[in-house]
Amino acid sequence: MVTKSVDLRSDTVTKPTEAMRAAMATAEVDDDVLGADPTAARLESEVAKIMGKEAGLFVASGTMGNLISVLVHCDIRGSEVILGDNCHIHIYENGGISTIGGVHPRPVKNNDDGTMDIGLIEAAIRDPRGEIVYPTTRLICLENSHANTGGRCLSAEYTDKVGELAKKHGLKLHIDGARIFNASVALGVPVNRLVQAADSVSVCLSKGLGAPVGSVIVGSKSFISKARRLRKTLGGGMRQLGFICAAAFVALKENVAKLEGDHKKAKVLAENHFYQLDYPAYILHVTVFHQIFFDIVEGSKITAEKLYKKLEEHGVLVMLEGPLRMRIVLHHQISSSDVLYTLSCFQVINLVPVPNPADTD
Ligand SMILES: Cc1ncc(COP(=O)(O)O)c(C=O)c1O
Repeated sequence: MVTKSVDLRSDTVTKPTEAMRAAMATAEVDDDVLGADPTAARLESEVAKIMGKEAGLFVASGTMGNLISVLVHCDIRGSEVILGDNCHIHIYENGGISTIGGVHPRPVKNNDDGTMDIGLIEAAIRDPRGEIVYPTTRLICLENSHANTGGRCLSAEYTDKVGELAKKHGLKLHIDGARIFNASVALGVPVNRLVQAADSVSVCLSKGLGAPVGSVIVGSKSFISKARRLRKTLGGGMRQLGFICAAAFVALKENVAKLEGDHKKAKVLAENHFYQLDYPAYILHVTVFHQIFFDIVEGSKITAEKLYKKLEEHGVLVMLEGPLRMRIVLHHQISSSDVLYTLSCFQVINLVPVPNPADTD
């Protein structure tokens, strides 16, 4: 019988801490659609300040944050956005920018490090002289960290270059910063510096930071006032919003500092142990970050699904990403002993050497 459970499916599975629950219980609230909720306003202005932008707006999710941001920047019919072919907005957001916003996506190849070649971005910008047939390019989107490449982080210098290109062509730059704090910690660069070149950023509080709900989008005051209106259009105007913002505020204050530990534990799992494997599985992407993509060699005796099931029997939950791929994500509710337990399960399934407890301290 399984007595322990280690949930490594995602950094979105965290439960609200006692401090978050206490903050929710005592939050000062009012009607946020009337613009009167003090706790929501405090969270929004704090996130905006941290990100170095004028204003912020709480939204229900990262998907809503990206959708609203793209729609504010592309508010004229026939707009086109340049974005990575492997980015979250393009792959996992139901094509909302097109189906809801009427915005045309122009995907550019994402490299293995999450970037798009600057030359390819520039080549994808439509020539205004062809406006009789072309959509009009208005926006470039980046994702930092880049989830589908295993959490690769974009440098401030790269982002600046994309920002310069956007300016040169009169375009806006949006960053899907669902895990921008992870990127900041991994790169050792302040978060406001990472997004300096961006006109808007969507920051998730319910991922690595562990808040139960929500994201904040940041940008100029005029961007946020348009975004506020669009949020209402999409049914995202919330009344006593301060309850969930209070928990998110605790996440912001308490959990940024824990990200480094998550990254370290991911390293322990990936580099010290899994990485040494050559049979019957191997890691394709080892990241300096908090998630690990684990690819099973084609033709191996074990499939990702079998391995997933065996781990589940031991109470270790991971995410199946395809027939040959699993994803493991660390977060602040995974302890060093959980990491050791996970390694011991891999060992029982006969996949990794015995871990050295000192490695996880
Ligand atoms: C990079 C990235 N952007 C956006 C999102 C969407 O966030 P949500 O699930 O809150 O809609 C995710 C979700 O995992 C993500 O990984």
